[in-house]
Amino acid sequence: MTITEIAEITNPADLEAAFAIRRDVFCAEQRVDPEEEFDGLDNDCRQYLAFYGRGAVGTARIRDAGDGTVKIERVAVLASARGKGIGRALMERTIVDARAMAPATIAIHAQCHAEGFYRSLGFRTIGGVFDEADIPHVRMVLD
Ligand code: COA
Repeated sequence: MTITEIAEITNPADLEAAFAIRRDVFCAEQRVDPEEEFDGLDNDCRQYLAFYGRGAVGTARIRDAGDGTVKIERVAVLASARGKGIGRALMERTIVDARAMAPATIAIHAQCHAEGFYRSLGFRTIGGVFDEADIPHVRMVLD
C-alpha cells in the first residue's frame, strides 16, 4: 500500500520541491503569472509537502492574514497524482494546524471548480465570484 504523508517543511530543499509543484500546477497548467504566484509572502507562511510513495506530489501553505483570519493557500496536487486522497490529506493536516493557531476565521479563496472539494471538508461559500490571477474564485470559511 502506498501511504500519503504530509510534512511541514523545515528545509530549503523541501521548500524548492513545493515551489516546483506550484510552478507545474499553477504557472504551467493554469497559466498563472509567476510574479503573481510567488507573491512575496512565502516566508510569512507555514509550508507543507505531500509525499506519495517516495515522491513529493502536493503542497499547501498557511498564512496568518491578520484580523483573526488564517488562510489556507496554494493547495496543489500534481495532475498525475490527483484523485487519490492527497488533496484531502493535505487539507485535513493544514486545517488541524490552522485551528491550533486559534483564529476567529479559517478562510480559503477557492477556485470555483474546486468549491465542492472544499465544501466536503467543511467550508461554506461567502459572497459571490471574483477573479484572482484571471481565475474565478469564491471566498469560503470553515464552520
Ligand atoms: N471539485 C469537486 N470535488 C473534487 C475536486 C474538484 N475539483 N477535486 C477532488 N474532489 C473530490 C474528490 O472526488 C474526493 O471526493 P471523495 O473524498 O468523496 O472521494 C475529494 O474531493 C478529495 O479528493 P482528493 O483525491 O483528495 O483531491 P486531489 O488530490 O485530486 O486534490 C485539488 C484536489 C483541487 C487540490 C487538485 O485537483 C489540484 O491540485 N487541482 C489544481 C490546482 C487547484 O485548482 N487547486 C485549488 C486552488 S483553490
